[in-house]
Amino acid sequence: MSNSNGEEQTDMNANEPIPPASTAPPVPPAGPSVDAQNKAVEPPYENDLLARTAELDQYFAFNDDAREVEFKRHDMPTPWLNYLSNGTFHTMLSHAGGGLAFYKSPQIWRITRYRFFHLPTDRSGPYIYLQDAGTGSYWCPTYEPAFRKPQEWRSSHGMGYTRFEAQADELAAKTVYFVGPYENSLIWNLTLTNNSSKVKELNVYAYAEFGMMEFMRELQWQCYNKHQVSVQYHEKKALIYKYGVENQPKPDETPLVYMMSDAPLAGYDGDREEFIGSYRSESNPAAIEQGGCTGSAILGGDPCGALQVRVKLAPGETRTVNFFLGTAMNETEIERAISHSREADFVTRSYAALQENWARYLRAWNCELPDQDAQRMLNTWNPYQSQRNFLFSRNISYYATGTFRGVGYRDTAQDILAVVPYDPEAAKDKVRLLLGQQYRDGHVNHYFFPNEGWDPVTSIHSDDHLWTALAVWDILAETGDAAFLQENIPFYDGGEAPLYEHLKRAIDFTVSRLGPNGFPLMLRSDWNDQLFRVCREGRGESIWTAMQFGTVLLRMKDLAAASGYPEHAAYYDRLYGEQKSLVNTLGWDGKWFRRAVMDDGRYLGTAEHEEAQIWLNAQTWATLSGMAESDKGLKAMDSVRDILDTELGIKKLHPSITTFPDPADPLTNYNKGTGENGAVFCHANTWAIIAECMLGRGDQAYKYYRQLIPNIAMEQAGIWRYKAEPYVYASNLFGPESDRFGLANVSWLTGTAAWMYVAATQYIMGIKPVLAGLSINPCIPSAWEGFSVTRRFRGCEYEITVKNNSHVCSGVQEIRVDGERLEGTVIPAYPHKQSVKVEVIL
Ligand code: GLC
Repeated sequence: MSNSNGEEQTDMNANEPIPPASTAPPVPPAGPSVDAQNKAVEPPYENDLLARTAELDQYFAFNDDAREVEFKRHDMPTPWLNYLSNGTFHTMLSHAGGGLAFYKSPQIWRITRYRFFHLPTDRSGPYIYLQDAGTGSYWCPTYEPAFRKPQEWRSSHGMGYTRFEAQADELAAKTVYFVGPYENSLIWNLTLTNNSSKVKELNVYAYAEFGMMEFMRELQWQCYNKHQVSVQYHEKKALIYKYGVENQPKPDETPLVYMMSDAPLAGYDGDREEFIGSYRSESNPAAIEQGGCTGSAILGGDPCGALQVRVKLAPGETRTVNFFLGTAMNETEIERAISHSREADFVTRSYAALQENWARYLRAWNCELPDQDAQRMLNTWNPYQSQRNFLFSRNISYYATGTFRGVGYRDTAQDILAVVPYDPEAAKDKVRLLLGQQYRDGHVNHYFFPNEGWDPVTSIHSDDHLWTALAVWDILAETGDAAFLQENIPFYDGGEAPLYEHLKRAIDFTVSRLGPNGFPLMLRSDWNDQLFRVCREGRGESIWTAMQFGTVLLRMKDLAAASGYPEHAAYYDRLYGEQKSLVNTLGWDGKWFRRAVMDDGRYLGTAEHEEAQIWLNAQTWATLSGMAESDKGLKAMDSVRDILDTELGIKKLHPSITTFPDPADPLTNYNKGTGENGAVFCHANTWAIIAECMLGRGDQAYKYYRQLIPNIAMEQAGIWRYKAEPYVYASNLFGPESDRFGLANVSWLTGTAAWMYVAATQYIMGIKPVLAGLSINPCIPSAWEGFSVTRRFRGCEYEITVKNNSHVCSGVQEIRVDGERLEGTVIPAYPHKQSVKVEVIL
């Protein structure tokens, strides 16, 4: 790769031939039968891998060495996204080039427009147009949106970048989009090669549609406020977009936007009407069809950034042109960013740093498993997705519009769990951010807006404030840093206290809100957002929260000891015992655990009712919390297997609700089998994996794990039924009571990512940091011969090999560390060693 100054830069991709682009319309193959009922099926991992993957091979392929997924056609069932980000400047970009850019917050600093839900799908995006100056014919390397399509095309998502490789009329174009660490900009790195025997004269256009930065305000007040924005041409040969709208939340922190190239400009447009023209679209911009950019700017109007560059290519010649869409706080900063970005090696350095950052991050964990699909998820896509959740909470995706989601307290507290092994310092920062949202009485804001400065959503839920203790315990286990517990952190309503005290107040808050039966009051809801209807009168109690509370109390005993309050442990013990006894008596229904007590005193989740008899969370957390007595844990998980499991994951509840508890006021308005009602809620499936591992049933645990690996679920359902990305988890799949069983929803931003990671690494592979060191207790499929893992832990690399010659699921026979036999199953920290070899025999 070379930049426009001609310097050689390193190549960004393998030189494989580009497959021809698709033309035939896709034929949706039949999914699972619409009336499929829940039944346990043969584990799909025993099927013939080649047969299963044949259909999907037409659409995409994984390249595990490069940590990429390649797309062979543009017409996927939905836009399949990637997130490009340096932590401050972000772009979500689809496999076909649609997407949007934002600075810090998609609520108030959204830079480009993406037209959610509207047709045509997946518009707009950061588009490049390549036009033959002689014939006027033009096409886009992203396949979309120009009418004329490339003859050869493919795209790939990698760690923090997306690449498009295309060819038409013997002109090859490779475009890599990424956000580098050195400037807050999306870099569009375009490399053109003339594969013909004639000189090519081209017009190259880069185009982005700017929106008002505040998307909600745009929808309401665009007619007035559009006249408070401007796009002006700057003498450094860039366009500068200014969002000067009155009453915006943080005018002093609102950046200017620039769009520039490192090649000389032949033209520009800042007025969307001039570049696109009326009754046209990104498919046929007027400026491109009518002689080039017009030199428009706006002081009020519909803004865009369009740049035109002329490129002349001799036969066989290759040239690179870079475009930049970025932000900076003022004109001086923009001038600096422009000069910096035009430095000869800026793009190469930025790309190399991006790759190095991801390589360093992902070095914390690497496994070799007998299951390639699981191995790929755990080494690459699962930690990648988890990191994006950690950054964006549930804010913005193809499904979520990024208008009013901010940072969800409970969601983020859980997202932390999968970032701890990779970046404990960032995890600590997130805990500080969360605890800053806690009130002195121990409860927390439900979600909040650290960038926007808006008031938080203050509804009080029975579970929110409790989640933090799990994250803190994990951070301590990972780092051994007990001093973290002493750090002073402010309360949201004034004053401050050591971190441990924050956690203790969360416990006290729950204790002060126990219901008539002694379980925690449901309050606004528990983890399940829909449960507000069983507790509108304020008497409803959550049996699940009792279990979550118990899980947290076990951790709090450790944290009390580590904080120098051993006397608190007895208090936590007593609380645990009381809740445990309630769970096993009032909470037990005979074959499973009940879910809640409703306002009217009746139970939710009992065989006595027609609908919503059994709920997944109450079964899994009975084991997670260690509360289930005698064989109740096993019985409950057997009921999960027999009643809730399907070939595409475990349903959240059964039977789905239509009229319960009152036809005039059912518990949920979700149609049966969708979303919160009888769908396969992937997040909740992760806890079934953990519970089965804790019960020692590795084959069952692995069935649950494997069936939701996205490309496996897609194989099972069929791509046209599953629809979402095959490389990241979705929040839920429609369940068997829906006629679209298998349709995946709300991919990317879901708690599924963090907990799948925890379930697989800490419970299936059984490599779990604990306060005393690294605990090893695998629970794997009995068919596995073994597996190996390299894990960074407190500064040392543990090279762990697990052998399973006896073909059991669990039970450690022997552990040797550098040849020495270890007592027990917890390997100590080795702060002075680079690496240790750990041999484990099951
Ligand atoms: C969504 C919410 C999460 C909630 C879950 C179950 O994923 O983001 O906070 O726990 O739904 O209702």
